[in-house]
Amino acid sequence: QTTALAAGTIGKDGYRHFMEKELHEHPLVIGQTLQRMVDPASRRVVLPDLPFDLATVPRAVITACGSAFYAGMVGRYWLESIAQLPVDIDVASEMRYRNPPLTAGSLGLLISQSGETADTLAALRSLRQKAVHILSVLNVEHSTMARESDVVLGTVAGPEISVASTKAFTAQLTVLACLSIATARARGTLDALAEEELVAALLDLPSRAADVFAQGDAIRRMAAIVAEARDVLYLGRGSMFPVAMEGALKLKEISYIHAEAYAAGEMKHGPISLIDRTVPIVASAPYTPLFDKTLSNLQEAKARGGRLLVFTDTKGAERVSAIAEDMVVLPHVHEFAAPILQTIPVQMLAYEVAVLKGTDVDQPRNLAKSVTVE
Ligand code: AGP
Repeated sequence: QTTALAAGTIGKDGYRHFMEKELHEHPLVIGQTLQRMVDPASRRVVLPDLPFDLATVPRAVITACGSAFYAGMVGRYWLESIAQLPVDIDVASEMRYRNPPLTAGSLGLLISQSGETADTLAALRSLRQKAVHILSVLNVEHSTMARESDVVLGTVAGPEISVASTKAFTAQLTVLACLSIATARARGTLDALAEEELVAALLDLPSRAADVFAQGDAIRRMAAIVAEARDVLYLGRGSMFPVAMEGALKLKEISYIHAEAYAAGEMKHGPISLIDRTVPIVASAPYTPLFDKTLSNLQEAKARGGRLLVFTDTKGAERVSAIAEDMVVLPHVHEFAAPILQTIPVQMLAYEVAVLKGTDVDQPRNLAKSVTVE
């Protein structure tokens, strides 16, 4: 990546920042990543040959840092719910020192855009000592982690220049979705018809992702509210909880506004006391089986004076509009694919807020693209 930049071969192509350009690459990147992992004719996931059997791994341990960790959290929901595989997950800076008891033959699942993050690499090495199979989801395929893994599943995101990760994140989710389907098939928890349904939902994503950009005006309206705030609360349930965490991280990282993500149902155990007109609440609430639960949490927040800015979909829009101050309406997609689609507007929101604040979007203060020190 550095070489390509130095050679001047990667430009912004008319976008204001690399981050904006990379946000617009979501549809392409999701499509390219799927092309590597899905046979569109049979609507089946096709993984490269693995040096172990997904049917018999007793457990998966997922570890990563930052956004890659949130991708892993979504992966945990998928692996547990569709493949019924027990999953342990932690940030790499904790995992590397945890010394968890692990049965030999478990699956170590490492996720990293750069493949060079010091904590993730150290966690990989500590898992390796426990005779765990190492499968890494990486964007830079000639990286240190790639060399030290048993198998690499590549995200086809291309070079990501902006320090804030965008397209690499949705590409990671795409790979994890395919891995979860393959694991479920191997373990006999997903029949061929159900696999076709999930794969169809993924194949639909590139065009649905392209539709998100039509929501630019609504996202900029929300950004004007968020940019005035000192603190912002992000809420989501189920696989939308890590999406909320991704949104909060991105906002902190590039706009320097304090943001916290909470599982929506956890709000009443503490953060609800923060709520007033000055703390906007950004919620990810597409129409999934957890929609009603999320909505009732949002109603609780509204009753305490909270200003609700909600990302929903066409099926949830009517009920959200009754309580939200503003909303972004995405196409309705299968619950399985929803976290991938819903990530795009939360990242766009952070971008638009940073532009309003006039920060150095692509090179936020104190941050490096790849954190190669502990
Ligand atoms: C994301 O926007 C961040 N810049 C950061 O959290 C990043 O995801 C993290 O440092 C992990 O990097 P990696 O994917 O290269 O391992």
